[in-house]
Amino acid sequence: MTDRPEMFEGVDRIWQDGEFVNFEDAQVHVLTHALHYGTGVFEGVRCYDTAEGPAIFRWDEHLERLYESAKVYDIEIPYEPAELTEATIELIRSEGLESCYIRPIAFYGYGPLGLNPSESPVETAIAAWPWGAYLGEEALEEGVDVAVSSWRKYSSDEIPTNAKTTGPYVNSVLASLEARGNGYTEAVVLNEEGNVAEGPGENVFLVRDGEIYTTGLSESILDGITRQTAITLAEDMGYEVHETTISRGELYTADELFFTGTAAEVTPIRSVDGNQIGAGTKGPVTDDLQSAFFDLFEERPAEYDDWFTDVEV
Ligand SMILES: Cc1ncc(COP(=O)(O)O)c(C=O)c1O
Repeated sequence: MTDRPEMFEGVDRIWQDGEFVNFEDAQVHVLTHALHYGTGVFEGVRCYDTAEGPAIFRWDEHLERLYESAKVYDIEIPYEPAELTEATIELIRSEGLESCYIRPIAFYGYGPLGLNPSESPVETAIAAWPWGAYLGEEALEEGVDVAVSSWRKYSSDEIPTNAKTTGPYVNSVLASLEARGNGYTEAVVLNEEGNVAEGPGENVFLVRDGEIYTTGLSESILDGITRQTAITLAEDMGYEVHETTISRGELYTADELFFTGTAAEVTPIRSVDGNQIGAGTKGPVTDDLQSAFFDLFEERPAEYDDWFTDVEV
Protein backbone atom coordinates (compact mmCIF):
# COMPACT_ATOMS: atom_id res chain seq x y z
CA MET A 1 0.00 0.00 0.00
CA THR A 2 1.29 3.49 -0.83
CA ASP A 3 1.83 6.05 1.92
CA ARG A 4 -1.31 7.43 3.43
CA PRO A 5 -2.34 10.79 1.98
CA GLU A 6 -1.94 13.56 4.53
CA MET A 7 -5.69 14.23 4.64
CA PHE A 8 -6.30 10.72 6.04
CA GLU A 9 -3.43 10.75 8.52
CA GLY A 10 -5.51 10.80 11.68
CA VAL A 11 -8.20 8.35 10.53
CA ASP A 12 -8.31 5.17 12.62
CA ARG A 13 -11.45 3.43 11.41
CA ILE A 14 -13.91 3.30 8.55
CA TRP A 15 -17.42 1.83 8.68
CA GLN A 16 -17.67 -0.87 6.03
CA ASP A 17 -20.58 -3.23 5.44
CA GLY A 18 -21.95 -3.08 8.94
CA GLU A 19 -18.80 -2.92 10.99
CA PHE A 20 -16.00 -0.59 11.97
CA VAL A 21 -12.72 -1.73 10.45
CA ASN A 22 -9.19 -0.38 10.75
CA PHE A 23 -8.29 2.16 8.06
CA GLU A 24 -5.84 -0.25 6.40
CA ASP A 25 -8.41 -3.04 6.30
CA ALA A 26 -11.11 -1.05 4.46
CA GLN A 27 -10.43 -2.75 1.11
CA VAL A 28 -12.30 -3.93 -2.00
CA HIS A 29 -11.50 -6.60 -4.59
CA VAL A 30 -9.96 -5.47 -7.92
CA LEU A 31 -12.91 -7.11 -9.69
CA THR A 32 -15.38 -4.82 -7.92
CA HIS A 33 -18.14 -3.90 -10.40
CA ALA A 34 -18.05 -0.19 -9.52
CA LEU A 35 -14.30 -0.01 -10.13
CA HIS A 36 -14.83 -1.12 -13.73
CA TYR A 37 -18.13 0.54 -14.58
CA GLY A 38 -18.56 3.40 -12.12
CA THR A 39 -21.68 1.89 -10.59
CA GLY A 40 -21.60 3.55 -7.22
CA VAL A 41 -23.49 6.37 -5.56
CA PHE A 42 -22.07 8.61 -2.90
CA GLU A 43 -22.46 11.72 -0.79
CA GLY A 44 -20.23 14.44 0.55
CA VAL A 45 -21.44 15.88 3.83
CA ARG A 46 -19.91 18.20 6.41
CA CYS A 47 -20.05 18.04 10.17
CA TYR A 48 -19.41 21.45 11.74
CA ASP A 49 -18.16 22.34 15.18
CA THR A 50 -21.23 24.43 16.00
CA ALA A 51 -22.21 26.58 18.96
CA GLU A 52 -24.02 23.48 20.29
CA GLY A 53 -21.21 21.01 19.60
CA PRO A 54 -20.43 18.89 16.54
CA ALA A 55 -23.44 18.61 14.24
CA ILE A 56 -23.89 17.15 10.78
CA PHE A 57 -25.26 19.72 8.36
CA ARG A 58 -28.36 18.65 6.41
CA TRP A 59 -27.68 14.97 6.96
CA ASP A 60 -31.29 13.97 6.27
CA GLU A 61 -31.25 15.65 2.86
CA HIS A 62 -27.91 14.07 1.96
CA LEU A 63 -29.16 10.66 3.02
CA GLU A 64 -32.33 11.11 1.01
CA ARG A 65 -30.28 12.03 -2.05
CA LEU A 66 -28.07 8.96 -1.52
CA TYR A 67 -31.08 6.62 -1.54
CA GLU A 68 -32.60 8.44 -4.52
CA SER A 69 -29.32 8.19 -6.45
CA ALA A 70 -29.21 4.48 -5.60
CA LYS A 71 -32.76 3.99 -6.85
CA VAL A 72 -31.79 5.11 -10.34
CA TYR A 73 -29.30 2.22 -10.62
CA ASP A 74 -31.35 -0.40 -8.74
CA ILE A 75 -28.75 -0.28 -5.98
CA GLU A 76 -30.56 -1.60 -2.94
CA ILE A 77 -28.62 -0.24 0.00
CA PRO A 78 -28.84 -3.08 2.52
CA TYR A 79 -29.16 -0.72 5.50
CA GLU A 80 -31.95 1.51 6.72
CA PRO A 81 -31.25 5.26 6.78
CA ALA A 82 -31.34 5.11 10.61
CA GLU A 83 -28.56 2.50 10.57
CA LEU A 84 -26.35 4.71 8.38
CA THR A 85 -27.09 7.65 10.67
CA GLU A 86 -26.14 5.69 13.76
CA ALA A 87 -22.96 4.40 12.10
CA THR A 88 -21.96 7.92 11.04
CA ILE A 89 -22.55 9.44 14.45
CA GLU A 90 -20.64 6.61 16.12
CA LEU A 91 -17.79 7.06 13.63
CA ILE A 92 -17.50 10.80 14.25
CA ARG A 93 -17.65 10.27 18.01
CA SER A 94 -15.14 7.46 18.12
CA GLU A 95 -12.72 9.30 15.81
CA GLY A 96 -12.99 12.29 18.17
CA LEU A 97 -13.83 14.63 15.28
CA GLU A 98 -15.38 18.02 15.90
CA SER A 99 -15.66 19.10 12.31
CA CYS A 100 -15.12 16.83 9.34
CA TYR A 101 -16.11 15.77 5.87
CA ILE A 102 -18.21 12.59 5.65
CA ARG A 103 -18.18 10.31 2.63
CA PRO A 104 -20.91 7.65 2.49
CA ILE A 105 -20.75 5.38 -0.58
CA ALA A 106 -22.78 2.41 -1.84
CA PHE A 107 -21.72 0.47 -4.90
CA TYR A 108 -21.98 -2.77 -6.81
CA GLY A 109 -19.17 -4.84 -5.36
CA TYR A 110 -17.34 -8.03 -6.17
CA GLY A 111 -19.51 -10.31 -8.28
CA PRO A 112 -19.73 -11.51 -11.87
CA LEU A 113 -18.15 -8.93 -14.17
CA GLY A 114 -20.49 -7.77 -16.91
CA LEU A 115 -22.62 -4.73 -17.51
CA ASN A 116 -25.62 -6.21 -15.74
CA PRO A 117 -24.86 -5.58 -12.08
CA SER A 118 -27.83 -7.45 -10.66
CA GLU A 119 -25.74 -10.41 -9.42
CA SER A 120 -23.21 -8.17 -7.68
CA PRO A 121 -23.63 -7.50 -3.95
CA VAL A 122 -24.14 -3.92 -2.86
CA GLU A 123 -21.27 -2.82 -0.63
CA THR A 124 -21.55 0.20 1.63
CA ALA A 125 -18.97 2.30 3.46
CA ILE A 126 -18.73 5.54 5.41
CA ALA A 127 -15.50 7.42 6.07
CA ALA A 128 -14.91 10.72 7.86
CA TRP A 129 -11.85 12.94 8.05
CA PRO A 130 -10.98 16.53 8.96
CA TRP A 131 -11.21 18.83 5.95
CA GLY A 132 -10.77 22.59 5.73
CA ALA A 133 -11.85 24.97 2.97
CA TYR A 134 -11.92 23.02 -0.33
CA LEU A 135 -10.67 25.83 -2.54
CA GLY A 136 -8.54 27.34 0.24
CA GLU A 137 -9.23 29.81 3.08
CA GLU A 138 -8.08 32.68 0.89
CA ALA A 139 -10.64 31.71 -1.76
CA LEU A 140 -13.47 32.27 0.72
CA GLU A 141 -12.32 35.85 1.22
CA GLU A 142 -10.80 36.88 -2.10
CA GLY A 143 -12.66 34.68 -4.57
CA VAL A 144 -11.39 32.26 -7.21
CA ASP A 145 -10.39 32.59 -10.84
CA VAL A 146 -12.39 30.24 -13.03
CA ALA A 147 -12.43 29.24 -16.68
CA VAL A 148 -15.30 28.00 -18.80
CA SER A 149 -14.43 24.39 -19.56
CA SER A 150 -14.11 22.99 -23.06
CA TRP A 151 -15.79 19.89 -21.62
CA ARG A 152 -19.60 19.96 -21.62
CA LYS A 153 -21.83 18.53 -18.92
CA TYR A 154 -23.79 15.47 -20.08
CA SER A 155 -27.52 15.91 -20.15
CA SER A 156 -29.98 14.05 -17.96
CA ASP A 157 -31.19 11.87 -20.85
CA GLU A 158 -27.65 10.50 -21.10
CA ILE A 159 -26.89 10.11 -17.40
CA PRO A 160 -29.27 11.40 -14.71
CA THR A 161 -27.58 14.50 -13.36
CA ASN A 162 -29.69 14.58 -10.20
CA ALA A 163 -28.10 11.30 -9.05
CA LYS A 164 -24.66 11.54 -7.47
CA THR A 165 -23.01 8.62 -9.22
CA THR A 166 -19.31 7.75 -9.09
CA GLY A 167 -18.66 6.98 -12.79
CA PRO A 168 -19.88 10.23 -14.35
CA TYR A 169 -17.50 12.18 -12.12
CA VAL A 170 -14.87 11.63 -14.82
CA ASN A 171 -16.60 14.62 -16.46
CA SER A 172 -15.80 16.73 -13.38
CA VAL A 173 -12.28 15.34 -13.23
CA LEU A 174 -11.63 16.37 -16.85
CA ALA A 175 -12.96 19.87 -16.21
CA SER A 176 -10.86 20.26 -13.04
CA LEU A 177 -7.70 18.98 -14.71
CA GLU A 178 -8.16 21.35 -17.61
CA ALA A 179 -8.84 24.37 -15.38
CA ARG A 180 -5.91 23.68 -13.06
CA GLY A 181 -3.63 22.87 -15.98
CA ASN A 182 -4.40 26.29 -17.40
CA GLY A 183 -3.70 28.06 -14.11
CA TYR A 184 -7.28 28.53 -12.90
CA THR A 185 -8.61 27.38 -9.55
CA GLU A 186 -11.82 25.88 -10.86
CA ALA A 187 -13.97 25.36 -13.96
CA VAL A 188 -17.49 26.31 -14.95
CA VAL A 189 -19.03 23.65 -17.16
CA LEU A 190 -21.65 24.44 -19.79
CA ASN A 191 -24.50 22.07 -20.62
CA GLU A 192 -25.22 20.67 -24.07
CA GLU A 193 -27.27 23.77 -24.93
CA GLY A 194 -24.19 25.88 -24.24
CA ASN A 195 -25.67 27.47 -21.13
CA VAL A 196 -24.18 27.36 -17.65
CA ALA A 197 -24.58 24.04 -15.86
CA GLU A 198 -22.36 24.06 -12.77
CA GLY A 199 -18.82 23.71 -11.46
CA PRO A 200 -17.16 20.26 -11.32
CA GLY A 201 -18.31 19.97 -7.69
CA GLU A 202 -20.30 23.17 -7.14
CA ASN A 203 -23.44 24.97 -8.19
CA VAL A 204 -23.20 28.45 -9.69
CA PHE A 205 -24.96 31.62 -8.54
CA LEU A 206 -25.03 35.03 -10.23
CA VAL A 207 -26.00 38.44 -8.83
CA ARG A 208 -27.37 41.20 -11.03
CA ASP A 209 -28.97 44.45 -9.85
CA GLY A 210 -29.26 43.06 -6.33
CA GLU A 211 -31.19 39.95 -7.39
CA ILE A 212 -29.87 36.41 -7.28
CA TYR A 213 -29.96 33.89 -10.12
CA THR A 214 -28.97 30.23 -10.15
CA THR A 215 -29.21 27.55 -12.81
CA GLY A 216 -32.51 25.65 -12.79
CA LEU A 217 -32.83 21.92 -12.17
CA SER A 218 -33.34 21.18 -15.87
CA GLU A 219 -29.95 22.69 -16.79
CA SER A 220 -28.09 19.37 -16.19
CA ILE A 221 -27.06 20.06 -12.63
CA LEU A 222 -26.89 18.23 -9.36
CA ASP A 223 -29.56 19.64 -7.06
CA GLY A 224 -26.99 20.78 -4.54
CA ILE A 225 -28.01 20.84 -0.91
CA THR A 226 -25.87 23.93 -0.35
CA ARG A 227 -27.68 25.42 -3.35
CA GLN A 228 -30.99 24.75 -1.58
CA THR A 229 -29.55 26.21 1.62
CA ALA A 230 -28.36 29.36 -0.18
CA ILE A 231 -31.76 29.83 -1.85
CA THR A 232 -33.59 29.52 1.47
CA LEU A 233 -31.20 31.82 3.32
CA ALA A 234 -31.29 34.41 0.53
CA GLU A 235 -35.10 34.39 0.34
CA ASP A 236 -35.34 34.62 4.13
CA MET A 237 -33.06 37.67 3.95
CA GLY A 238 -35.44 39.26 1.46
CA TYR A 239 -33.57 38.65 -1.80
CA GLU A 240 -35.35 37.70 -5.00
CA VAL A 241 -33.96 34.37 -6.16
CA HIS A 242 -34.53 33.10 -9.70
CA GLU A 243 -33.90 29.49 -10.77
CA THR A 244 -33.35 29.91 -14.47
CA THR A 245 -31.13 29.53 -17.53
CA ILE A 246 -27.85 31.43 -17.34
CA SER A 247 -26.02 32.01 -20.61
CA ARG A 248 -22.25 31.99 -20.91
CA GLY A 249 -22.28 35.69 -21.77
CA GLU A 250 -24.15 36.54 -18.58
CA LEU A 251 -21.25 35.19 -16.55
CA TYR A 252 -18.91 37.87 -17.92
CA THR A 253 -21.26 40.78 -17.19
CA ALA A 254 -22.49 39.62 -13.77
CA ASP A 255 -22.17 41.98 -10.81
CA GLU A 256 -21.16 39.00 -8.67
CA LEU A 257 -20.72 35.27 -9.06
CA PHE A 258 -20.26 32.57 -6.47
CA PHE A 259 -20.11 28.81 -6.08
CA THR A 260 -21.99 26.76 -3.52
CA GLY A 261 -21.23 23.20 -2.47
CA THR A 262 -20.62 21.06 0.56
CA ALA A 263 -16.89 21.18 -0.15
CA ALA A 264 -16.72 24.74 -1.55
CA GLU A 265 -19.31 26.13 0.94
CA VAL A 266 -19.99 29.68 -0.40
CA THR A 267 -16.97 30.72 -2.49
CA PRO A 268 -16.87 33.99 -4.46
CA ILE A 269 -15.74 33.92 -8.10
CA ARG A 270 -13.60 36.94 -8.94
CA SER A 271 -12.89 36.30 -12.61
CA VAL A 272 -14.08 34.18 -15.53
CA ASP A 273 -11.66 33.48 -18.38
CA GLY A 274 -9.57 36.43 -17.22
CA ASN A 275 -12.53 38.85 -17.13
CA GLN A 276 -12.90 40.52 -13.77
CA ILE A 277 -16.28 40.08 -12.11
CA GLY A 278 -17.56 43.19 -10.27
CA ALA A 279 -14.75 44.69 -8.21
CA GLY A 280 -12.67 41.52 -8.57
CA THR A 281 -13.23 40.41 -5.01
CA LYS A 282 -16.09 39.16 -2.81
CA GLY A 283 -19.17 41.22 -3.68
CA PRO A 284 -21.65 42.57 -1.11
CA VAL A 285 -24.48 40.10 -1.81
CA THR A 286 -22.06 37.17 -1.78
CA ASP A 287 -20.66 38.50 1.49
CA ASP A 288 -24.15 38.74 2.97
CA LEU A 289 -25.01 35.19 2.01
CA GLN A 290 -21.64 33.75 2.98
CA SER A 291 -21.95 35.39 6.41
CA ALA A 292 -25.47 34.00 6.84
CA PHE A 293 -24.14 30.57 5.87
CA PHE A 294 -21.27 30.55 8.37
CA ASP A 295 -23.49 32.15 11.04
CA LEU A 296 -25.59 28.97 10.87
CA PHE A 297 -22.78 27.15 12.62
CA GLU A 298 -21.67 29.96 14.93
CA GLU A 299 -25.18 30.80 16.05
CA ARG A 300 -27.39 27.77 15.39
CA PRO A 301 -30.49 29.93 14.70
CA ALA A 302 -33.62 28.18 15.97
CA GLU A 303 -35.48 28.51 12.66
CA TYR A 304 -32.94 26.28 10.91
CA ASP A 305 -32.56 23.73 13.68
CA ASP A 306 -33.98 20.98 11.44
CA TRP A 307 -30.85 21.28 9.32
CA PHE A 308 -28.65 19.86 12.08
CA THR A 309 -28.07 16.34 13.35
CA ASP A 310 -26.20 16.62 16.63
CA VAL A 311 -23.37 14.20 17.19
CA GLU A 312 -23.30 14.50 20.99
CA VAL A 313 -26.78 14.10 22.43
C1 LIG B 1 -21.41 18.21 -9.73
C2 LIG B 1 -21.79 18.84 -8.45
N1 LIG B 1 -22.60 19.90 -8.45
C3 LIG B 1 -22.97 20.51 -7.30
C4 LIG B 1 -22.51 20.07 -6.07
C5 LIG B 1 -22.94 20.74 -4.82
O1 LIG B 1 -23.82 19.90 -4.11
P1 LIG B 1 -23.95 19.95 -2.55
O2 LIG B 1 -24.23 21.37 -2.20
O3 LIG B 1 -25.08 19.04 -2.23
O4 LIG B 1 -22.67 19.49 -1.99
C6 LIG B 1 -21.65 18.97 -6.03
C7 LIG B 1 -21.15 18.48 -4.76
O5 LIG B 1 -21.50 17.42 -4.34
C8 LIG B 1 -21.29 18.34 -7.23
O6 LIG B 1 -20.47 17.28 -7.22
